[in-house]
Amino acid sequence: MKARGHFTNRFGFIAAAAGSAVGLGNIWKFPFEVASGGGAAFVIMYLVFCFVLCFPVMVTEIAIGRKTQKDPVGAFKTLGFPRWTFIGKMGILAGILILSFYNVVAGWAFGYFVQISIGNFEIGNQFGEYINNIGRVGLYGIIFMLATAFVVSKGIAGGIEKASKILMPALVGMIILLAIYSMTLPHAFKGISYYLIPQFSEINFKVIYNALGQAFFSLSLGMGALITYGSYVSKNDNIVSSAALITVSDAGIAFLSGLMLFPFVAYLSAGAVETVEGGPGFIFQVLPGAFESMGLITGRVVGALFFLLLSFAALTSTISLLEVPVAYAVDEMNVKRSHAVWVIALFIFLLGVPSLVSNGDSHFFTHFITYIGADKPTNFLDFVAHIGSDTLLPLGGFLMTIFAAYVWKKHNLNKEIETGFPGFKGSLVEKYIDFAVSYLCPAVLGVIFVLTLLNRFFGVDLF
Ligand code: TRP
Repeated sequence: MKARGHFTNRFGFIAAAAGSAVGLGNIWKFPFEVASGGGAAFVIMYLVFCFVLCFPVMVTEIAIGRKTQKDPVGAFKTLGFPRWTFIGKMGILAGILILSFYNVVAGWAFGYFVQISIGNFEIGNQFGEYINNIGRVGLYGIIFMLATAFVVSKGIAGGIEKASKILMPALVGMIILLAIYSMTLPHAFKGISYYLIPQFSEINFKVIYNALGQAFFSLSLGMGALITYGSYVSKNDNIVSSAALITVSDAGIAFLSGLMLFPFVAYLSAGAVETVEGGPGFIFQVLPGAFESMGLITGRVVGALFFLLLSFAALTSTISLLEVPVAYAVDEMNVKRSHAVWVIALFIFLLGVPSLVSNGDSHFFTHFITYIGADKPTNFLDFVAHIGSDTLLPLGGFLMTIFAAYVWKKHNLNKEIETGFPGFKGSLVEKYIDFAVSYLCPAVLGVIFVLTLLNRFFGVDLF
């Protein structure tokens, strides 16, 4: 049998897993959820969810991976439960779906890096045309998928780990630089205070639901991405402290991203922060104008840095998304990594083409489906996101925790965590993880799954 890949050390694993976690979601979604969800009140709640609910799931995924040294399907087989491999298969499906649309958006971001670098600030006003210039954004998408596939084809230590060890520190450096710069802009303080002043009255059931979903997606849970990465982790590593560091890095970078963005928001709106609409529209349509007004050179440098940062964040995430089906092909079907990577990447790229053309270019994919009770159709890209990330991930997390607690059994989970962390036995952390995996996580994730189904697809307004 050929040797399986491994991370060379703990730092390599943490960089790769934090890279998977830090993605598009952190940079454009988190800050705006914070602002509309009660500022610091949201941040506190988000951190609590990360640690109370997501952290035990993360530890469980890594433990299953490290115990079995297998891909998400092989892992359940190796543990002796072939009937539970469907969880792994579902995860692989989720990963394929998520990557198919995520790569499209990553391609947009990368294209903006190119355009702003050559001084094309007009791109913000032409966003609609830009994303419908299929030849051009298609090319950016191809480049992005090629970069992802290239890294994954080089394997674990020489590919994923090496890339993460370069991209992640670069990303942190860029975000700090941009945050410092943005704080020097006029009205910066108004932006920061809008971002952070706690407003507990803004917190309602919907905000809580969004915070939970965001935390879970952001930490890359529920599809076996961390089973896969965990399968390359050494038996001497402390899973609990690694998971804690990954969680802190992810939340920390999301937080920093807000410190970087809100001064821009305030600068643009001359302090009238509330009037600005957040999300992708802000990043792609509004921000280029802000860069332009900083002057030709500064604007280019700051703007290019920003979109490079976004591309780096996306790249370490697409790498982890591609690695999951690749690991499955390598472990279960004995395909050579170098072959598996290119075939799967091509397949996923093609699967992403309907998403690519679903923003106006193709009428059919733009008006793809009208959910029960909805007054507007949903385009293909959003439809795939609703299935791949919003629905399958909580379901996957629900099933994995049920599996770990009641099928594989807690004492086996605990034993694997103890390997590399002897102090775990009998500790409070052990008691907490056991409690969370047995009761809290399945209950909350089960509820989220059902609510999402009802809310997204059946027009049930729960809030
Ligand atoms: N966490 C990434 C983000 O915030 C997305 C992502 C990458 C992901 N790999 C994943 C989400 C695996 C769930 C599972 O953008």
